[in-house]
Order: sequence, then C-alpha cells, then structure tokens
Amino acid sequence: MSIIIEGESRIGTKINIVALSGSIRKQSSTQKALRNLKNVMPENVDYEIYHGMENLPHFNPELDGDQPPEEVQVYRELLSRADGVIICTPEYIKGVPGVLKNALEWLVSSAELYTKPVAAITASGNGENAHQALELHLSMLHANVFDGGALLISGADSKLNEDGKFVKSEVNASIKLLIAKLIEEINKGASFK
Ligand SMILES: Cc1cc2nc3c(=O)[nH]c(=O)nc-3n(C[C@H](O)[C@H](O)[C@H](O)COP(=O)(O)O)c2cc1C
Repeated sequence: MSIIIEGESRIGTKINIVALSGSIRKQSSTQKALRNLKNVMPENVDYEIYHGMENLPHFNPELDGDQPPEEVQVYRELLSRADGVIICTPEYIKGVPGVLKNALEWLVSSAELYTKPVAAITASGNGENAHQALELHLSMLHANVFDGGALLISGADSKLNEDGKFVKSEVNASIKLLIAKLIEEINKGASFK
C-alpha cells in the first residue's frame, strides 16, 4: 500500500489490487468480468489484471531455486506488491483450470499469498467443485479468504453480457459487497502495520 503525501499532510492511501484469471481464452467471459470490475473499484484503488498466466512454465520444484524463471519472478513481484488479490475462474472438468492451479503452485515456496486478503470468485456453468478446490488451494497457501471473500456464480454465461457486466442486479450487488469487504480487510491489515 503506498501512502500519498503532499507537503506534510497525508492526503490519501492508494490500495493495490491484482487480479488473476483462471481462463486465458481470448474471448474469455472471466477476463471480461475481471476487466469490468475496474468500473466498480473506488478511486483510491490501483487495479491490475495479470496477463502472464500462459507464459508461466509448468511448475517444477527443480526450477524453483535461487534463480527461478524470469516470468515467475515478474509474477511473484507483482503479487508481493499487491495489498489484495482477486481470483476469478471458470470450472474445467470439475476443478480449477490447469493454468490457474499451475500459477498457484508457483506460490507455495515463495508465499506471496501468505495472510494476504484474497477474494475468490468462481463463475461457471456449475462451478461448485472448482470453487471448493480453489478455497482448498488458497487455504494451503494460507491466503486470507476472509468472511464473505468467496463468491460462486453458477449459470454465469446467462448472467454476463458482452461487456463482462453481470446483468442480474443481485450478482452485481454480491460483487460490490465482495470488493467492499476485500478493501475493508486490506485496511484492517494496514492499521496493524
Ligand atoms: C475443457 C472444458 C471443461 C469444462 N468443464 C466444466 C465443468 O466441469 N463445469 C462447469 O460448470 N463448466 C465447465 N466448462 C464450461 C466453462 O466453465 C464455461 O464455458 C466458462 O464460462 C468458460 O470460461 P471463459 O469464458 O472465461 O473461458 C468447461 C469448459 C471447457 C472448455
């Protein structure tokens, strides 16, 4: 979190949120939904979607030494600078898509998500299994999936329009609440620093 200082007075606090998408498809509805989240972020939030997921090598502990691959270093740096993370994913064969699982495996030894506030959204046809798996993976990484920090949107295709905006008002309300809680959780942590 960076504090903006003007003269001697503190005029505001910038929050840095990074989003990860479980789908790397060009026309991905998950990515559209993540892009659309920018419109609901408060002004003091710097929001960035990580686009290097497909360039991460397959996780291999032998590559995870003092000098991990450059793509991994960039990815880890981005997450270590983040005050909070949003993960949005579809379900593939009743689980988390391989690209996302791979990206999470790269965080086991480096622990960028350790105690970090993470909002987990599964948006899919059904999605129940992927959602459970994602929560389990995040608990293994000791991420802080706070109370109200996990949202399952089943039947997502029929609830999303072309711009990635959810057309059902109750889904939009749930997403706004999720983001408000994520920011609240980030601020809670910041007050202890
Ligand atoms: C290989 C594959 C497996 C899938 N498996 C599931 C599944 O198990 N459960 C489910 O609800 N949807 C499943 N789907 C549907 C996708 O989750 C759904 O189309 C989603 O919206 C795709 O997200 P995207 O548009 O961001 O790529 C699968 C799709 C693909 C391509």
